[in-house]
Amino acid sequence: MTNHKAANSFSLGERTVNRLGYGAMQLAGPGVFGPPKDRNTALAVLREAVASGVDHIDTSDFYGPHVINQLIREALHPYPDELVIVTKIGAVRGEDASWNPAMTPAELTSAVHDNLRNLGLGVLDVVNLRFMGDGLGPSEGSIEAPFTTLAELQQQGLIRQLGLSNVTSAQIAEGRRIAEIVCVQNHYNLAHRDDDASIDSLAGDGIAYVPFFPLGGFTPLQSSTLSDVARRIGATPMQVALAWLLQRSPNVLLIPGTSSLGHLRENLAAAEIELPGETIAELDGIGKAGRSPAAH
Ligand SMILES: NC(=O)c1ccc[n+]([C@@H]2O[C@H](COP(=O)([O-])OP(=O)(O)OC[C@H]3O[C@@H](n4cnc5c(N)ncnc54)[C@H](OP(=O)(O)O)[C@@H]3O)[C@@H](O)[C@H]2O)c1
Repeated sequence: MTNHKAANSFSLGERTVNRLGYGAMQLAGPGVFGPPKDRNTALAVLREAVASGVDHIDTSDFYGPHVINQLIREALHPYPDELVIVTKIGAVRGEDASWNPAMTPAELTSAVHDNLRNLGLGVLDVVNLRFMGDGLGPSEGSIEAPFTTLAELQQQGLIRQLGLSNVTSAQIAEGRRIAEIVCVQNHYNLAHRDDDASIDSLAGDGIAYVPFFPLGGFTPLQSSTLSDVARRIGATPMQVALAWLLQRSPNVLLIPGTSSLGHLRENLAAAEIELPGETIAELDGIGKAGRSPAAH
């Protein structure tokens, strides 16, 4: 069993979780739609993650849709007290697997109830409001109306804590004027570092930053520097990518996604890797090389 407690923990609002968690999105069928290709392995991945000490699982009822929450429930309910399940709302899936915004009060309310029912919970631990942005990343615009609705659902006792996903720093600031947020979930990894300033500022305020696509997402990261470092230290490139994120800032919580038991074990073992300063500097070059002129 992997001692991934070595990665330490960080607060997710009133809860404290291990910094290496698990993202469940990869358990659905192709395009995050429909059932898993191997249902028994999907259930085994969830059970092994928790048995190995994972106490933070990221999900959404729009994964599948419904499929992944139902798998989580089948694999893990009744949930251990220490497990924090973080879900997200703000989209619905079309029959063609499309992702469509669903931000009206009625849609958000129904999404919260879908998550409660499919996860088998009376109250959701953490709900992220996920914005569509421009399709690639966040885009500016007020989040007041939908986030106020979410805060009202929290006040009704359906949700313990709130977060934001795919948002700009202005939207984070606007959200924090409406309600307390405990986490931000945005696209970030070794090669995609638009959120560097946000991570540091959230760290100063004790708010968790949870990168999605920590391994590069549907096309895992490929870099000769990453491969060279991995070879030198006797790890895999994906383990180095996760170790780099763990050392990036103490408020970074990881939710690498996998449908494979072997990859799950490999990813959790990344907690034991300590990268020396000069190796971090070398890896930092990957993000600098890929940085767009508009990024900062
Ligand atoms: N808020 C949002 O908008 C948003 C968007 C995307 C994702 N998310 C959340 O973030 C989590 C993480 O993102 P993600 O799953 O999309 O991307 P990811 O963690 O960056 O990468 C997942 C991909 O890497 C592969 N992989 C995982 N471990 C590996 C290993 N050790 N070696 C080689 N390949 C490996 C997986 O394939 P295998 O299955 O074959 O291992 C999969 O193709 C998701 O699960 C989801 O919960 C949130």
